[in-house]
This record gives sequence, structure tokens and C-alpha cells, in this order.
Amino acid sequence: MTRPLRLALATAITTLTGACMDMGNMDDGMMIPEVIEVDASEGPFQPTAAPDLDPAPNVVEVALEAKVSDIEIAPGRTLSMWTYNGQLPGPRIEARAGDTVRVRFKNSLPEATTIHWHGVRVPAAMDGVPAVQSPIAAGAEFTYEFVVPDAGTFWYHPHVRSDEQVERGLYGAFVVRGDAEPATTTDRTVVLDDLLIDSSWQLGEFDPMQAMVGRQGNVILTNGWAHPIVEVARGGLHRFRFINAANARYFRLALPGHRLIQIGTDGGLLPASREVDELLLVPGERADVLVVATGEANEAMEWTSLRYDRGHGTGDLPDAVVFQMKHGSDAPITTPAIPDALVPIAALPEATVQREIKLEESMAMGGDHGAGHGSSMSSDMAPVFSINGQVYPDATPLAASFEIVEEWSIVNTTEMDHPFHLHGFRFQVVSVDGVDPGVVAWRDSINIPAEKTVKFRVRLEDNAGTWMFHCHILEHAERGMMGELEVAAP
Ligand code: C2O
Ligand code: CU
Repeated sequence: MTRPLRLALATAITTLTGACMDMGNMDDGMMIPEVIEVDASEGPFQPTAAPDLDPAPNVVEVALEAKVSDIEIAPGRTLSMWTYNGQLPGPRIEARAGDTVRVRFKNSLPEATTIHWHGVRVPAAMDGVPAVQSPIAAGAEFTYEFVVPDAGTFWYHPHVRSDEQVERGLYGAFVVRGDAEPATTTDRTVVLDDLLIDSSWQLGEFDPMQAMVGRQGNVILTNGWAHPIVEVARGGLHRFRFINAANARYFRLALPGHRLIQIGTDGGLLPASREVDELLLVPGERADVLVVATGEANEAMEWTSLRYDRGHGTGDLPDAVVFQMKHGSDAPITTPAIPDALVPIAALPEATVQREIKLEESMAMGGDHGAGHGSSMSSDMAPVFSINGQVYPDATPLAASFEIVEEWSIVNTTEMDHPFHLHGFRFQVVSVDGVDPGVVAWRDSINIPAEKTVKFRVRLEDNAGTWMFHCHILEHAERGMMGELEVAAP
């Protein structure tokens, strides 16, 4: 059955200003709508778990194949996507902290790829970046193997031509459980994404003009489905592990009428739960949230992404529905106690090394920097992104030593926000625009607001190698806003 699709025509959302022209997209002379609303429907809510192919305890072996597949994202709407195992998102990898994870990977895509384990502290050789691994050619195989040291909500995705490969559908959740997991009624993974589709409901063209604000989609996907419904037991305490896998979209999540109880960030559980009305989740970032399902039987509530201004007119886009949470018809069950203390985290000591990382943007002639993008650029000016004056890969790696605590000041010199991500280590934010965030938490991804500075501390543990840091708006990363940290024994 095909349900009606309401197309909000671009003309209805023409209040975008100035530099934001680049958010509109042409499709055979027709404007592609900036928002496509899809009615709620039953979809596959939870990503399927990858079967563990190794019977040994403490070893998780998973087979992943990257390939082109047809994927249904709404009733009757099927797109040709790039997938892991023919699924969107890819299979959810599940392990316990301390396990060895082995991933037998086969690349059946038409081009080379890698897999990066975002947020998992792996040895550098397993990090899946071109600096340490030549991309796995079309038709080739590679086995990734590493120990997962930390519990938390992580994810995986390619690290070559990531702006296009991730947009095409290559991403999956990676959940590592520890000994201190709170007792909840449910524990679900929610992978958020958006796709830019054209008037024939296929992926729209990859146009260098999308680089400025990143490729913001017009259809929001929750676990690979547009506007799915998840049924929850009334009274229950429901855990949602959110992952933002979108190229560029900021999700400012809220559930009207409900408080959100955040229990975890990128790097696992917080020391204590905290109640919030909304939660900003930038590309690459994760958050673990508990919700008590209060309300009437059969009541339907919409998880919403509130409008957010990250620069260049993005604040003019309307609020967007993400997915629907629907109460069951049964009487409320007993709500499990909301855990208060979770996992203690010691604050890192004063740093002995300080660094300044400046995020910059400029316009250049024919400047579609970065490999492999169509040269269909007709206008002469294009944005170029850089860090400390260097456009990756033409960048000098930063040198660092083991066991040193460093303090990084990430200075955003631009008029838009950038989500900053560091590989291999986890950090603690100590100030955002001079203000102490008031929570000690492990992170690997953090928003750097426009024209503001965020400081974090990181202990560079004994993990030698080359580690990337970059903006997680993938169009920015692939056009120069990326750098390398070389960590070695002192
Ligand atoms: Cu999720 Cu270097 O990336
Ligand atoms: Cu950026």
C-alpha cells in the first residue's frame, strides 16, 4: 500500500538567506524540495544484530560485505543504496567491554573503501583510515581485529570519500556493554540520518555546491526508515542509544511533554544521570537517553528535531519529525528505578602540553578541493576548509608523546558550527566559550559553535600511530578540514 507523501515545495521554504543559496538543489531545472514529509508507518525499528560467528566466549566474529542493494525507506519507496550486508543501517555489532572483535570484511562495491570504528579505541593499524591502511580495493577482503576496551555506543563507517560513501548508506551501530548497565525495560539503538533525494525518489546528485553547509538531506531516516513507529510499554523505562550518522544535519532532539534523562555520551555512561528538555546531537556524536513512557494508552508522540541555526541560513529550516513513539494499549507496567549514580569518571589533571587548532574556511577559485568529486563545478568560487592554515592532505602531522595530558583549544574562526572528532583517544571538555560545562564526560565528538572556542583535555595513552582529527561534516573533512596526530613513545 502506498501512503500519501506530502511534498513541501521549495517555494514554501524560500526564506533562506544569502550564502544559503547552496542549500537548494537543481534537478533537471526543478528545485528539489528541501523538506519531504512522510507519514508514520511501521518499519523495522531496531537494526538487526550481526550474528556472532565465533563460539568462543569473549570473541565476537562478524562478517560484513559492502555492496549495492535496493533498500525500502518508506512504504513502496525503494532506493539503490550502498550497504553493509544489504541492510540500512548495517548490522548492529554487539560486544562486551574486553571482548576481541574480528570483522571479516569483503568489499563488493564498485570502488575502494575502509571501515573506521568511530569512538572505539583500537590500535592505529585497525583504525581504517588511509593514513594507516591502503583502501580495500573493489573485490578485495580485509580482516579487522581488535579488543574493545570501553562500554558505550559507537558506530562504524568508511573513511575514504566518506562524504559520498556514508551518504549512500554505509554506516552501522556498534554497541559495547559493560558491567554497570542500568536496568531498563528496553534498550534500543537509534541511528539517525538524512538523505537528499530527487524528484524520482533516488539519491540526488553529489554537487560540490553542497560543500558549504554539508549535504543536508530532505528525508530523515531513523534506523533506515522514514518516520517509523516504535511501540513502547506504558510506564516502562526505555533506553535509546542515539547515533547521528548524517553527513551534516544537526539533530536537536526533543519529545514534547517528556523530560529526557541523559545517561551517556560518546564515551559511555556519565557519572550521574541528568534531566534535559532537549539534546543536541551533532554529526558523529552519540547520546544514551532514558524516557519514562507516561501518557494514555495508544497515545502517539513525535520525537522531533527542533530548528537549529548552525550558520548560513540553516536556522530557517523548520522543525522536523524524526520518529513516532506510540504507547501500547496495556495498563502501565511498574517503572524501574531511574539510576542516579552510574559510572564514576575522574577528571583529567592539568595539561602539560597546550595546542591550538584553528578551524578555517575560505573561498577559492575552482576550489573543489579533495579527491574524486565531479568537476562539474561551473561557478568559479568554491569553499575550501582548513586547519591552522593547512588543507588536508597537504598538512604537517602534529607530533605528540605517550601518557602526556594535552589541552586542545579548538578555535572556530568561521560563521558556522563544526562538529570536531578525534580518533583513538577520548577527551573531556573543560570549557565551551569560556564556560565550564559542569559535567565530566568522555567524548570523541563535540560541537564547536561558530566563532567560539572549545577546550578539552586528552591523555594520549600508550597507543602509538597516526590518528586523524577532523570536522565530521563529511563534505568539510573531505575538503581539507582534517589533520593528523602522530603519537609515539617519548
Ligand atoms: Cu566518524 Cu574520522 O570519523
Ligand atoms: Cu565543518
